Amino acid sequence: KETKLWGGRFEEGVTDAVERFTESISYDWQLYKYDIMGSKAHASMLAAQGLITTGDRDIILEGLDQIEKQIQDGKFEWRKDREDVHMNIEAALIEKVGEPAKKLHTARSRNDQIVTDLRLWCRDAIDKILIRIKQFQVSLVLLASKYVDLIVPGYTHLQRAQPVLLPHLLLSYVEQHSFHRNRGTRFLRIVSILTSFLWILSISIDAVSDRDFVLEFLAANSIAAIHLSRIGEEWVLWASEEFGFLTPSDSVSTGSSIMPQKKNPDPMELVRGKSARVVGDLMTVLVLCKGLPQAYNRDLQEDKEPLFDSVKAILGMLEVCSEFAQNISFNSKRIQSSLPAGYLDATTLADYLVKKGVPFRTSHEIVGRCVALCVSKNCQLTELEMDDLKAVHPVFEADVYAYLGVENAVNKFISYGSTGSEQVKKQLEDWRVQLGIN
Ligand code: ARG
Repeated sequence: KETKLWGGRFEEGVTDAVERFTESISYDWQLYKYDIMGSKAHASMLAAQGLITTGDRDIILEGLDQIEKQIQDGKFEWRKDREDVHMNIEAALIEKVGEPAKKLHTARSRNDQIVTDLRLWCRDAIDKILIRIKQFQVSLVLLASKYVDLIVPGYTHLQRAQPVLLPHLLLSYVEQHSFHRNRGTRFLRIVSILTSFLWILSISIDAVSDRDFVLEFLAANSIAAIHLSRIGEEWVLWASEEFGFLTPSDSVSTGSSIMPQKKNPDPMELVRGKSARVVGDLMTVLVLCKGLPQAYNRDLQEDKEPLFDSVKAILGMLEVCSEFAQNISFNSKRIQSSLPAGYLDATTLADYLVKKGVPFRTSHEIVGRCVALCVSKNCQLTELEMDDLKAVHPVFEADVYAYLGVENAVNKFISYGSTGSEQVKKQLEDWRVQLGIN
């Protein structure tokens, strides 16, 4: 066995079990690009400080370039006995260029390396996530643009509430995701400042042991994952026979191994499912950090897998949601035929009474009685005769019918941010402009 880079004081090597248990190369090799980037900056700093010659610096830089190329070409051997990405690269550099490479680790610890690598990795990961979020938003806006006039039931408590235009609902998802993008961009700014050394952490102990940036990243991913999960839930529900509001194309559905008729929305179920691991990843690192004495502790090695896992999951979820959005159709006929149920226009009727001067609480009560009447007659509010309405309250007049029915109800919404058709046209147009869709 080769002597460890830290092996000077040791008389015997670690056991196989300890080696297997403590290694991180099986996953932290993914940081190689950033580790090399950091080592190059470090070598340049050492030369600038007169701690190594410019000749040695150039040998180190050249050697690191060669190693990077070897890794990219799949010709680099990652060795478990060299523990982690830092020592794999350093040991390989020593093998390659000899003495100058032994000077590279002057004035730094692996603990400095790992936190630098991780920040740099996060910066690229966020970039990728931001691109995927935008793709999903674009898919949603394009989907919404296909159904500008389609009225769907709005729900609260999963009970029918008020009618809304489908694009308004879809844009609510788009808007949620703009908050993720803002969170991502803000976070990106912070890690970028730190990793470009525009802003240097002022206390060394904090610099080497801080993992708040990992937690923030995982927390932002968790919020995004929860939203994606909710979309997953809604679309799974809407694809059911009971709702029948949307049909995914075959290309985003899967079948059953036993029931020949089945066409399942598995991708969206898995979006819902994978949100569990994203939240779990956040929990793992929260708990990981909670009992650590200042400063670096080896426990922190356990932050990598949850971080990588969270990013992988969220990227996959966003990609699949986007593809799903591009491959579903809403069943306008079925949705329309379902709209008379549930008294979606009841609140509009209450608003009508308010316009007639009735206080809202009273009008709520009056409409409640109208609904009760409909329930007993098994009819819709639109089907109540003038006499029926007058019997409930004399304030009703013939103009009430302009407030009843879902089309009328939707068109009574005129305030900013509401679901009326004029507003929704503006909202769609705004989002198309914001996302650069022509
Ligand atoms: N692999 C470690 C990590 O991921 C970095 C190395 C620190 N090891 C050490 N013995 N100080 O955090």
